[in-house]
Amino acid sequence: MTSTSTGAHDQEGAGGGAWFDRWATQYDSERRLLISPFDAYYAAAGEAVSLTADGTRRTTGADGGPIRVLDLGAGTGLLTAVLAQALPGAQLTLLDEAPGMLAQARERFSSIADQNTVLEGDLLGDLPEGPYDVIASGLAIHHLDPADQARVYAAARERLAPGGVFVNAEQLKAPAQWLEDHFLERELVHARAGGFTPEAEAQAWERWSIDQHVTLEDQLGWLHAAGYDTVECVFKAWRFAVVAGWRAM
Ligand SMILES: C[S@@+](CC[C@H](N)C(=O)[O-])C[C@H]1O[C@@H](n2cnc3c(N)ncnc32)[C@H](O)[C@@H]1O
Repeated sequence: MTSTSTGAHDQEGAGGGAWFDRWATQYDSERRLLISPFDAYYAAAGEAVSLTADGTRRTTGADGGPIRVLDLGAGTGLLTAVLAQALPGAQLTLLDEAPGMLAQARERFSSIADQNTVLEGDLLGDLPEGPYDVIASGLAIHHLDPADQARVYAAARERLAPGGVFVNAEQLKAPAQWLEDHFLERELVHARAGGFTPEAEAQAWERWSIDQHVTLEDQLGWLHAAGYDTVECVFKAWRFAVVAGWRAM
């Protein structure tokens, strides 16, 4: 497995650098509690990446070689594992600014280490050159300012090979406060029913304090503005949505 540092990641405060590392070892075990539609949500991302821009199954990269995948904000590799299962034999590049999260990912993928490149770096820096057949992200881009989120959508489009897809499994802002309140309430009910402790909930609130959710309408607008040829929300359950943009063949 190749490991490199790229981009700026020198802040240690809220939202910067290794901020997520303090939760790295407990991260995976809490996910099902914090995402009520967990299986369907990640599965939708896996299904979307498996389709090329003409609807055929993605079995090779655009150049006839292995499928090249970039996971933005890969963390412990939870989404990356779904991508690896959907795209057998793919070359996986994991980009994240938190070394502790990436350490968990290295452990997860130790048996297929030769298929992976782990990059420690900032989503706001230049993305790796590519081209990539698949660029995906799970619950990471909403940590950026909305203007920067839109920039990442555009930068991903620039790095896609023909027929490639950008897929973002994201959390959304509701279009009205009453619905936003419901988004939150129903997830808290789910987490508490599953045994989420008050201590874990307090930590979750700390993580959520830096979230900068935008509406589904904004997400789809950014994809259109960035020049993706086919744009769709392929999954939605209240706060959780998977949006996708394909580049034509
Ligand atoms: C909630 S975790 C999601 C991890 C994984 N994608 C998943 O689906 O479980 C968010 C990840 O985004 C990373 N992240 C947040 N802002 C970042 C940035 N500006 N540059 C690189 N990584 C970032 C964090 O370090 C963290 O690992």
